[in-house]
Amino acid sequence: MKILSIETSCDETAAAIISKELQNDHITILSNVVASSFALHSKTGGIVPEIAAREQLKFIIPVIEKAIENCLPTEEGKLKIENLDAIAVTVGPGLIGSLLIGIETAKTLAYIWKKPIIPVNHLLGHIYANFIQTTNHKQLTINFPALALLVSGGHTDLVLLKSHTEFKWIGGTLDDAAGEAFDKIGRLLDLPYPGGPSIEKVSKKGVIGSFVFPRPMIGSKDFNFSFSGLKAAVAREIIKLEKLNEQQVADISKATQNSIIQVLIRKTVKAAKEYNVKSILLGGGVAANQKLKEKMYSQLSTLNLQLHVPPAHLCTDNAVMIGAYAAFHYKPILWKNITANPQLYFN
Ligand code: KG4
Ligand code: ZN
Repeated sequence: MKILSIETSCDETAAAIISKELQNDHITILSNVVASSFALHSKTGGIVPEIAAREQLKFIIPVIEKAIENCLPTEEGKLKIENLDAIAVTVGPGLIGSLLIGIETAKTLAYIWKKPIIPVNHLLGHIYANFIQTTNHKQLTINFPALALLVSGGHTDLVLLKSHTEFKWIGGTLDDAAGEAFDKIGRLLDLPYPGGPSIEKVSKKGVIGSFVFPRPMIGSKDFNFSFSGLKAAVAREIIKLEKLNEQQVADISKATQNSIIQVLIRKTVKAAKEYNVKSILLGGGVAANQKLKEKMYSQLSTLNLQLHVPPAHLCTDNAVMIGAYAAFHYKPILWKNITANPQLYFN
């Protein structure tokens, strides 16, 4: 089965072609193209929806063209449009203008090429980035029940997967998402947008213990998170110091990263024990954070739990993950029945 997938929920414009073997769960990436407008958002310190959508309008056709051009040949030879089984597209959650660009393009192509269309929830896409085979040597096996920690710019959620078809949301953030906290604190520290990778980079020079920030809700009985208090605590510290030198920026970055990571790990481990899961899946842009991966790995190694983390370029927004979810949940519909749902969540 071959799927062309499209993702435009936030500021990226992405298209990919994946194939899935029918007899097993093996997903292969045949092409993967991502265009980002983040350089434009650096000037404003965050995404301006109108600017993101205008850029996506420019990028969408060239990105899809490139995904088709770059598609690796298979046993059927070079990709022919007639060999595509379906078009998958992100329908939500996300920015309405951005979502519509991907959806309307997917609809048009589906109509012209006479292909069915598969609507995909972006959040489930992030989780399914874990089901993509990225090396030819290793057979990928994910044992259920699995617990997914989804940590992106807009979401922080813990989701229990009993199987490919049974999902249960067990907790999430009550205010800011983990990525949002990184981004907002990055802005307070005058670091380049997006804050997550910038904080990770400068925190390497930070001294542990120079600053200590709260670990919100770390001891709460539920599986919810809250990061806005952390942001407020960092803001208070910055105001107190008036002018920060380079070392203080690094120290505050390290303390911020530590607080976020500790809360994420504590809640994930607690949920893993309570639900007796066999695997942990990380997903979303924050899962690209090396320290989060290392610390999660060392915590889980004592518990005999498998940890799966997609490679960094599949943690941040991409279309391969959208194709992967669609391949595992192949429920094609007619192009005219698809609609954007900016508020889509786990149902
Ligand atoms: O999943 P994603 O690409 O887009 C959304 O669906 O939101 O996630 C973007 C978020 C941003 O908040 C960004 O700061 C964060 O992921 N991020 C990171 C890292 N790379 C991206 N946060 C911490 N460490 C990183 N290395
Ligand atoms: Zn995302």
